[in-house]
Amino acid sequence: MQYKTWFSSYVRSFYYTNEKDQKNIELKEIHSGNVYKNMTDIAQGFFSSEDEVNTASAVGLLHDVGRFPQYAKYKTFKDAVSVNHGALGAEVLAQEGIFKELSPALKDIILNAVKYHNAYKLPSVLTPKTLVYLKMIRDADKLDIWRVFTEEIFMQNKTERPSAVMLGFPVTDDYSEKILKAVYSKQLAKLADVKCENDFKLLQLTWIFDLNFKRSFSLLVERNYIDKMVDTLPDTLEINGLRQVLKDYCSLQINRDSGISE
Ligand SMILES: [Fe+2]
Repeated sequence: MQYKTWFSSYVRSFYYTNEKDQKNIELKEIHSGNVYKNMTDIAQGFFSSEDEVNTASAVGLLHDVGRFPQYAKYKTFKDAVSVNHGALGAEVLAQEGIFKELSPALKDIILNAVKYHNAYKLPSVLTPKTLVYLKMIRDADKLDIWRVFTEEIFMQNKTERPSAVMLGFPVTDDYSEKILKAVYSKQLAKLADVKCENDFKLLQLTWIFDLNFKRSFSLLVERNYIDKMVDTLPDTLEINGLRQVLKDYCSLQINRDSGISE
């Protein structure tokens, strides 16, 4: 598969000469490279054949390919006001024909995993095999989004942050009861309930309840993303109480028997 070379030149065709736009493009390019690594890591511990691992790696690198034309046309990463970047990515890959030498079944897996990687819930129309890759890319993606936020975005001064990333939520000292409740009840929070930046951080913490693979929980714990995220939130009892709830949940998942959640 020549997808690596194709990806580099495709991304390069979206480069900007102005710093603000280029920063947004670079962020997604680096993210794609890291998701490729996360995906390969999780796949190596789960699949037994090299072909399966390679397919997973391809999905990792290409999952956000729709972000580049999305930004070029709409100058935003907010799907709600532009286009579904998962669906757009799958369209791009189908049109570019980079998987010509693959079997139709394998091509289908890759395109569907890209198409649905950002869906709120897993679609019920996919084959069990596709679902495995889809669950894996969703994990690999979340792991790197936590890296982007804890190591890049929250550490930077607000004016230096890549502009399209925080989705424009206001920065206040507040957070919403509804989002906090979602974390305590171990449920995914909804983007529609997010009112401010802290809510958005709490929403990202609820993604933990959507992780699928044991290895993903180990990577999350090894990289200490829970503390890094909670440290950037207001220092209140109810916020600090979240650390243990989230860490206990991870330990439980790491110690379970199977490699993937049912
Ligand atoms: Fe994405």
